[in-house]
Amino acid sequence: MINVLMTNFNSKNPPLLLWGEVRGEVDTGARLKPSPSPSLQERRTYSGSSLSMVSAFVILLLAAPCSAAELNLEPIKCDPAQVLGADACAKCHEYEVKQWKLTPHFATFESLHRKPEAKAITKKLGLSTVKRNDTCVKCHYTQQQKGSRVRVVSGISCESCHGASKNWNPLHNDYGGPNVTKETELAEHRQQRVAASIAAGMNNPANLYLIARQCLACHTTPDEKLVNVGGHTPGSRDFELVAWSQGMVRHNFLRTGGTSNGTATQAELRVMYVVGVMADLEASLRATAQATTKATFGTVSAQRAAGLKRKLHEIQKQTDNSHVQQAMDAALHAPLKLNQSEALLSAAKTIGEAAFAFAKEADGDDLATLDALLPQPNAYKQQEGQ
Ligand code: HEC
Ligand code: HEC
Ligand code: HEC
Ligand code: HEC
Repeated sequence: MINVLMTNFNSKNPPLLLWGEVRGEVDTGARLKPSPSPSLQERRTYSGSSLSMVSAFVILLLAAPCSAAELNLEPIKCDPAQVLGADACAKCHEYEVKQWKLTPHFATFESLHRKPEAKAITKKLGLSTVKRNDTCVKCHYTQQQKGSRVRVVSGISCESCHGASKNWNPLHNDYGGPNVTKETELAEHRQQRVAASIAAGMNNPANLYLIARQCLACHTTPDEKLVNVGGHTPGSRDFELVAWSQGMVRHNFLRTGGTSNGTATQAELRVMYVVGVMADLEASLRATAQATTKATFGTVSAQRAAGLKRKLHEIQKQTDNSHVQQAMDAALHAPLKLNQSEALLSAAKTIGEAAFAFAKEADGDDLATLDALLPQPNAYKQQEGQ
């Protein structure tokens, strides 16, 4: 491992981290316990399931109007012609909309363009006003096409996370006929309904990875010029999916029938934690892949990826999961250097596929060994009443 890093030290592909940081990373690698190699039987089932998973994944990416896993991580911009807007959700999801209005995702619509820091960034980049340029709009706003005009209609909204909804909206709440209710819907129909909503572009929480990659496509700020020239923050460096989604962002009113904002179970949180680390690692590698100069953007993205590799290694030590293993193997081969975009994107792709499969198949009840790694509720980002 050290040799690999040393031999690749040359001016064309300089490492993005300082030698000490690289060494820290190598140490982690060196401490890797040789994982028990899967039995032939396991391998067979594994490759079988990963094949069908991959084809499902490809179909899904083609269908999704704001999917994150494309090459340059341009997920965010939901197709404005497919956006219905939060008002369209409100008639059935009144409580979720109320909760959303308490978050910075909503507030950015009224606040961002007034901030001197925002104006300073657009000025340095030579861009028009904050609400009127594609760069800022992509991550801070939701656009909707009304007639022939495309308008900025809100901040980061339901559809920024759940996907532009024109196609999936009629499907996601169809229990299967006028006389069928939530209570009488057959389990098989529910499964088909969720699958149909995902195929039509919904980032359905039934597979948390679909939403996590949206969070991270924004929260890693994968835009070198925005950071190095504009002076924008190089992403949310302390992002962690459980802590960042279970505070004020949480809106679990469906599961309580609207009576209160429900909390996730411990089993759900374990899965969420792992999915968050994998999605963050994927996005950080994609960001690192864009780096062309050794400056803030590239260094921070590479540091972030190195830190996530360590977290994933901790997860791997505590679990015996083939998807985590697959992601770790890919991460170990990802060179955190400039001009390595192909290798980095290929590792990112494998990690994203592993995260999708993990989110789909993992049973949180089997992951109790992860509890020590999970953040405590007092670390959740801005809890109610704060
Ligand atoms: C006509 C009513 C209606 C509208 C409009 C509507 N929903 Fe729903 N939505 C529902 C119902 C009913 C469910 C519960 C489905 C179930 O029981 O699984 C649901 C469930 C969901 C879920 C949970 C995932 C799932 O499959 O159970 C999400 C996420 C969601 N809606 C998002 C939205 C968003 C975003 C919008 C606006 C773009 C929206 N919905 C508009 C009725 C609606
Ligand atoms: C790739 C996604 C992305 C793009 C593009 C982007 N931002 Fe941001 N921006 C973020 C995220 C995520 C945060 C939250 C930062 C954090 O947690 O560090 C943020 C935060 C900010 C803040 C600090 C907000 C505050 O409340 O103090 C400003 C100012 C800002 N962005 C301005 C801009 C401007 C101006 C543009 C367009 C030139 C822009 N951003 C484009 C993702 C983005
Ligand atoms: C479309 C881009 C985008 C997506 C998707 C997105 N965010 Fe954000 N998020 C932002 C921006 C931009 C800000 C900062 C807004 C501001 O301050 O003006 C922000 C702010 C936040 C904050 C407040 C941070 C603080 O320091 O107070 C939390 C928490 C957060 N996001 C969590 C999440 C989670 C969890 C997800 C996914 C479930 C997510 N976000 C998805 C763009 C996004
Ligand atoms: C920042 C990203 C983000 C935004 C914005 C967002 N959601 Fe969600 N939504 C999620 C995540 C993540 C989950 C999974 C919930 C969890 O486990 O905490 C979820 C879950 C849901 C659920 C299922 C809740 C349950 O009880 O199981 C519904 C319904 C829903 N969202 C609707 C909406 C609506 C309507 C809006 C807009 C008002 C919205 N969401 C905005 C990320 C988001």
